[in-house]
Amino acid sequence: MSTFGIEAEPLKSQIKKLLHQRNAVMVAHFYVEPELQDLAEETGGLVSDSLEMARFGRDHAAQTLVVCGVRFMGETAKILSPDKCILMPDLEANCSLDLGCPVDRFSAFCDAHPERTVVVYANTSAAVKARADWVVTSSCALDVVSALKASGQKIIWGPDKHLGSYIQAQTGADMLMWDGSCIVHDEFKAFELQALKREYPEAKVLVHPESPAEVVAQADVVGSTSAILQAAKALPASLFIVATDKGMLHKLRTLNPGKTFMEAPTAGSSATCRSCAHCPWMAMNSLQGVAQVLTNGTHEIKVDPQLTARARLPIDRMLDFTAALKSGQPVTALASKLVPHLGAA
Ligand code: 13P
Ligand code: SF4
Repeated sequence: MSTFGIEAEPLKSQIKKLLHQRNAVMVAHFYVEPELQDLAEETGGLVSDSLEMARFGRDHAAQTLVVCGVRFMGETAKILSPDKCILMPDLEANCSLDLGCPVDRFSAFCDAHPERTVVVYANTSAAVKARADWVVTSSCALDVVSALKASGQKIIWGPDKHLGSYIQAQTGADMLMWDGSCIVHDEFKAFELQALKREYPEAKVLVHPESPAEVVAQADVVGSTSAILQAAKALPASLFIVATDKGMLHKLRTLNPGKTFMEAPTAGSSATCRSCAHCPWMAMNSLQGVAQVLTNGTHEIKVDPQLTARARLPIDRMLDFTAALKSGQPVTALASKLVPHLGAA
C-alpha cells in the first residue's frame, strides 16, 4: 500500500523503531487516516474519541506522546502531562470551533454574565479552557449539563452552537450560546438525508451532535464518535447512514464486518461531491509527518505553564466526573452549587 506514492511499509517500520527508541506512544482520533489508526493500535497506542485520548495520554507511562488529531487534542495532552513531550505531525492542524472562539471575545462574553457557569467544549484553545469552569466533550456534555441544571446553575456554553442547542433541547438547561460551528458537520444536508432514508427505509441513522438540528432530528442515535461506534455494534440492523467525518467509517467497518455503512449526504445532486465530510485539519496527519517528528523531535506542543495550571482545573473536573459516572458513583455533588466558579485567571 502507498500513501501519495510513497511506500507505506518502510515508513511504518521506521515509525515502530522510532517509537521504541523514544519511549513514545501514538494517540489517534477516529477521524485520521486508517493507516495511522491501525498503526497506533498495532504499536500499543490508542484510537478513540477526544475524551479517551485525553485520559489515555495522561495515564500512559510513555514520556513522549505522538498525538494524531488536531491542535486542541495536543494541547489537552500537554495540560494533563506538562512533563511529557507532546509531538504532533502538523502543528497547523486546527479546528473551526477553536478558531471561531478567540479568548479575548469569549472572556468578555463570560465577564458580562459572571453569575453563569462557563462550560466549554474540548475543541477550544488552552486559553479558552483557562477561562472555563467545566470542559466537556460530546461524550459527556449531556451528563455534565444535566447535573449542573439539577443544581440550579445557569450556563454559558461555547463554542459549538449545534451541540449546545442539542444539549439545551435534551436537558431544558438555561444556556447562553456562543455562535460557533464545525465546518465538517455543518455540511450535512437534512433534505438529502430525508431522500436517502426514503430510499433505504431499513437503515438506521447515526449522527454526531455537531450536526445541524434538522439532521439531528432524523437520527436514530445521536452521540459522540465512541457512542456512534457502540450504537453500530449494539443495534440489530445491517445498514447504517452515518453523519460524521468519514474517517469514522474505518473503525465502523472493521469492527462490524457484516454491516454496511453509508455516508450521510453533504451536498445536493449538482455538486461534484455527494459526501465531502472529512476534516481538512485531521487530514493533515500522515505517516510521513509522524516519522518526521519522531526523527527530528520537531512540532512539539507548548502551552504557557501559567495557562496550563488554570486550564487543567476544568479538564480535571470533567475527568473526575466521567470516572465517577463510569464507576456508578453519585455525581451530583461534583457538579453542585458548592463547586466554586473558577472565574478569570
Ligand atoms: P469526539 O469527542 O466525539 O471524538 O469529537 C471530536 C471532534 O472533533 C468531532 O468533530
Ligand atoms: Fe473541529 Fe469539526 Fe474538524 Fe472536529 S471535524 S476537529 S469539530 S473542524
